[in-house]
Amino acid sequence: MQYRFPEQFWWGSASSAAQAEGASLQGGKAPTIWDHWFEQSPNRFHQQIGPAQTSGFYEHFRDDIRLLKQLGHNSFRTSIAWSRLIPAGRGEPNPQAVAFYDAMLDELKAEGIEPFICLFHFDMPMSMQALGGWESREVIEAYAEFAETSFRLFGGKVKHWFTFNEPIVPVEGGYLYDFHYPNVVDFRRAATVAYHTMLAHAMAVQRYRELGQDGQIGIILNLTPSYPRSQHPADLKAAKIADLMFNRSFLDPAVKGEYPAELVELLREYDQLPACEPGDAALLAAGKIDLLGVNYYQPRRVKARSHAVNPASPFMPEWFFDYYEMPGRKMNPHRGWEIYEQGIYDILINLRDHYGNIPSYISENGMGVEGEARFKGEDGQIQDDYRIGFIRDHLIWLHKGLSEGCQCRGYHLWTFIDNWSWSNAYKNRYGFIELELESQTRRIKKSGQWFATAARENGFD
Ligand code: BG6
Repeated sequence: MQYRFPEQFWWGSASSAAQAEGASLQGGKAPTIWDHWFEQSPNRFHQQIGPAQTSGFYEHFRDDIRLLKQLGHNSFRTSIAWSRLIPAGRGEPNPQAVAFYDAMLDELKAEGIEPFICLFHFDMPMSMQALGGWESREVIEAYAEFAETSFRLFGGKVKHWFTFNEPIVPVEGGYLYDFHYPNVVDFRRAATVAYHTMLAHAMAVQRYRELGQDGQIGIILNLTPSYPRSQHPADLKAAKIADLMFNRSFLDPAVKGEYPAELVELLREYDQLPACEPGDAALLAAGKIDLLGVNYYQPRRVKARSHAVNPASPFMPEWFFDYYEMPGRKMNPHRGWEIYEQGIYDILINLRDHYGNIPSYISENGMGVEGEARFKGEDGQIQDDYRIGFIRDHLIWLHKGLSEGCQCRGYHLWTFIDNWSWSNAYKNRYGFIELELESQTRRIKKSGQWFATAARENGFD
């Protein structure tokens, strides 16, 4: 076999509570910012489809876990919904939620699938947002309590925990670029949200360590390597600042327990530093992780700005760079994102060389396709050879990283079944399994069969 992976390599896929469970206001669950935003502005959501219309994992989880088995999975990531487990945000857990997550974890165990559990995947409870969301220190405390409750309830069954999924996304979406609630545009507030998220992360890690449970804790970051247009110093500087703002602002505190000095200096120079309190630095230092989840979709290509910044304009990351469309870059024709497989290797080499070769795994990678039903074959199965090629090519670069000493322990596709997504709803289909939304029927795509074989054989030719 040409590409053989290490024993115990994690083959699987990822999902999240809000995107798959459905039952968004049932079983005692309280609303999240998404339920609220959908009610307020349904037109922001593709075809006005909101978070209640999913593949119904809350109801169908047993059948879905059987499908995961058919997909050859030995591991699977999903999240616990804070607003389901603790509907008031703080206080007693909801017994229906405890029963649901217990049953789901038992079912995974029965099928021999290792659960990877994330504690926050963009789904801020509305009750917590009303307190200020991540701008509020009270919410940090509340989140740490929720994390501790989850560890105590499920720590016997879960050995891989993640505090956050892509914490930069609520910062960008909610406070910089207007695609998540509370849809404001304000860099200083964005910086506070980013900073408080990492304090919350560190507090959860600290609670986990205090409990002394047998397992690992980490965070999932969407690392987007920043490539400069040229080796000209101005382009190199632009790429460096983009890297500091979008990657190292989370990667350094998570792995090294502190922020990069250059980032702190930059924000200080522009008077954008969030307020710190005594004890913050020690808390951050206690938040170092055991395992890093890496979500990788596409790189960031940047160049020096071609026009001077208007100093009267609101401070934004783009004060320091412009985006650059590299001629000849390979695009996903079905979703408009660049495909650059080598990015996965570059990330792993960076972790090896600059982050102590921290154990990692690819926690998301995937190909969104609009209008995927047009690729159905005569028998009705989606013939997604493009996705097979995409996964295979990324795995080949991952494999090269392994052969050069990187500690990457697995690969999870986004996602196992076509799912609801933040305002895009069902526009971009990513799953190994096709979901027919109205009838709720499921059908494994060709890529799912390919992956099952690769997983069972632990490699491919
Ligand atoms: C990832 C998120 O960044 O991208 C997922 O973790 C999300 O939650 C995925 O669904 C794809 O995004 P979209 O908008 O194309 O569905």
